[in-house]
Amino acid sequence: MEKNINPFPTIGYETKKYFCNRENEVATLRRNMENGINTTLISTRRIGKSALIYRLFEDLEVNRFACVYVDIYACTCLKDFTEALALAIFTKFPEKRTIGKRFFDFLKGLHPVISYDALNGQPEIRFEFSQTKEYEHTLRSLLVFLDSQQVEVVLALDEFQQIADFPEKNVEALLRTVIQTLKNSRFIFSGSKKHLMLEMFNTANRPFFSSTQTVGLSEIPTDKYATFIHEKFAERNRTIDDDAVDFILSWTLSHTFYTQTICRRTFAEGKRRVDIQLVKHICDEQLNLQQTTFMQYRNLLSPVQWQLLLAVAKEGLVTEPQSQAFLRKYKIGAASSAKKALQALIDKEMVCTIEMPNKTAYRVYNVFLMRWMERMF
Ligand SMILES: Nc1ncnc2c1ncn2[C@@H]1O[C@H](COP(=O)(O)OP(=O)(O)O)[C@@H](O)[C@H]1O
Ligand SMILES: [Mg+2]
Repeated sequence: MEKNINPFPTIGYETKKYFCNRENEVATLRRNMENGINTTLISTRRIGKSALIYRLFEDLEVNRFACVYVDIYACTCLKDFTEALALAIFTKFPEKRTIGKRFFDFLKGLHPVISYDALNGQPEIRFEFSQTKEYEHTLRSLLVFLDSQQVEVVLALDEFQQIADFPEKNVEALLRTVIQTLKNSRFIFSGSKKHLMLEMFNTANRPFFSSTQTVGLSEIPTDKYATFIHEKFAERNRTIDDDAVDFILSWTLSHTFYTQTICRRTFAEGKRRVDIQLVKHICDEQLNLQQTTFMQYRNLLSPVQWQLLLAVAKEGLVTEPQSQAFLRKYKIGAASSAKKALQALIDKEMVCTIEMPNKTAYRVYNVFLMRWMERMF
């Protein structure tokens, strides 16, 4: 089964065989975890944070760390978060293992409702407490339970910025206080909303201020990615031309998810030898596939926002979005309304910011949308 999978996953994580590079980041994270340094991992979406955490776990588990991963993207309140954490621990330690058995007994004391999804058999855990206090208590005791299991624990809280939006305003402080008392647990706080993450960890009056080391994640270097792509084709006795690989990497800006998507589709064609013509055709098809969705964005944006997004797409990278030359070239109108529109596009995650040595640059967040706009207008 494993032998025939497409070597370019676009969701989740397979094994390190299908994971490209990131040696420095894995080494840094590993060193931090081994030395008790809690770490914040920040980058734009789909560049590979979650996959990197899984990749790290693969190494750490060999070294007898107990690694627990919780994605809190869909959590909107303390209840959701507490349940997600309980479920992550529950699925991590099967009942047959010592920790699993102990956890099951401990969990029973919290009177959860455990059910199994009728379709996929996945467990679900719910707590039916009437008071916030009880959730706070449960969250604390779940962390304390993990910490007291005679094993070093690494807990990754992915899309951590979500907790800033919880209606309960003290979750950050509560977590920070509990974490300070733990002896055997290390944390990775990972997040895509750069601005929210930086606010949580770099603002003096926030509970997590200065409590972690920050690791940023950017694109995989193109030479490393190119070698990886050639290797994955070669392992299945296929080849892909150099210029085809170069085209993929530049067309997708080497942004992991987009590169993986095009590679996956290219590989799926099943050709013994892939040339640049085939790759260009696949890129084109990818845009056609998403055309209906992209068209609808126009209805969701104001005319100025749409015009500005188009302009950013056509420029590729914009460093002076308020300049007269830029505004005139794309008939965007007054600098003040352009400024507001830009902020709205950033808030909607349609445009992302890229920090350069002494300025900020802007580009369309979704690379396929950017290419589609370039092609269409
Ligand atoms: N280093 C890598 N090599 C190969 N594929 C990767 C790598 N990093 C991420 N991916 C793939 O890219 C996709 C997006 O990565 P993901 O970890 O979900 O990004 P993020 O968490 O930053 O939003 C996933 O399907 C993942 O399998
Ligand atoms: Mg992720």
